[in-house]
Amino acid sequence: MAKDSKSATDKILSSLDTLAESLKQSALKAKSQKEIEQLRVKFTGRKSKLVTILRKIKDLDPEGKKLVGSRANQLKNNFEEQLAAAQQDILEKSLSDIARTEAVDITLPGKKRQLGHLHPVTSMLHFAEDIFMRMGFEVVYPNEVDTDFNNFEALNMPENHPARDSWDTFWLEDGQIAITHTSAMQNRVLRSHPLPIRAIVPGRCFRNEATDARHEHTFFQIEGIYVDKGITIGDMLGTLKAFFTEFFERETEVKFTPDFFPFVEPGGMISLSCFICGGKGCAVCKKTGWLEILGCGMIHPNVLKMGGIDPDTYTGFAWGFGLERLIMLKFGIEDVRRFYSGNLKFIRQF
Ligand code: DAH
Repeated sequence: MAKDSKSATDKILSSLDTLAESLKQSALKAKSQKEIEQLRVKFTGRKSKLVTILRKIKDLDPEGKKLVGSRANQLKNNFEEQLAAAQQDILEKSLSDIARTEAVDITLPGKKRQLGHLHPVTSMLHFAEDIFMRMGFEVVYPNEVDTDFNNFEALNMPENHPARDSWDTFWLEDGQIAITHTSAMQNRVLRSHPLPIRAIVPGRCFRNEATDARHEHTFFQIEGIYVDKGITIGDMLGTLKAFFTEFFERETEVKFTPDFFPFVEPGGMISLSCFICGGKGCAVCKKTGWLEILGCGMIHPNVLKMGGIDPDTYTGFAWGFGLERLIMLKFGIEDVRRFYSGNLKFIRQF
């Protein structure tokens, strides 16, 4: 190799070495994908230092060209490797940043969510319906607005019958009624259901009266109707005892005391043995040991006749109770107005 060419080659090699060092430093400092791209262009692009240095290669002898060429290749490969390593570092750092700042710690306790649930009257209504269905009763829902005929007349209370006054009635302008009791469905059920009939009618009733701890203007009743050949009061007592024992989830005794309702004969009230004091007498049962809970009786022959059923062949019983009152007893709630007060503190206890 000629002396001139050798020194020219050495010069180029040494400037390549200097360039290599500065490439290495720059690659180490790169902080983003963008900076890496800029470095690549700056050091290996068409106007880069490398290209400028390599332009001088044409003046070298073959051996010098070979030396410089292989050193330049090595430099390029090293530089690419350094950039790739830098790129990997940047990626790992950004992943660990995400892991640190956005990670979900699955060992933390969950956030408490307030989910809604059924209103206690609704869930107890379902509970009661379920018990009656298991006893073979069909569930029929009433019309909330009905005629004078269904609410009174078909229940053996013709126009001007004094017993109508027992129900403080909301009359609509067209003469219809916001039903005062679910007995208003009796006539429809008697007419439309094939015998034997076993049906309950759970629904809302309305009374035009002042509210207090035991009375609401709007409340739920469950009417029961049972008609077949040879049905007696004994069947009624057995049916109701079985229901209340299931509803209160404890053995419950029932007692029948005669009372008057125009649509039953005989009619009466059912009382339950007070499960708060076990029948000994307490404040809830007013020291009697019994809780008066519902009206019932053997369906009046006139009511059966108006329902298209022959009272000489068939007999039946009916009852009606207020659902809220049962729920109050089951859970020890002292004021019926709590149910519809909208007070969530109360509702969330159930
Ligand atoms: N409908 C009556 C009321 O609201 C309750 C009632 C009493 C229903 C006697 C009956 C019954 O079916 O036989 O006060």
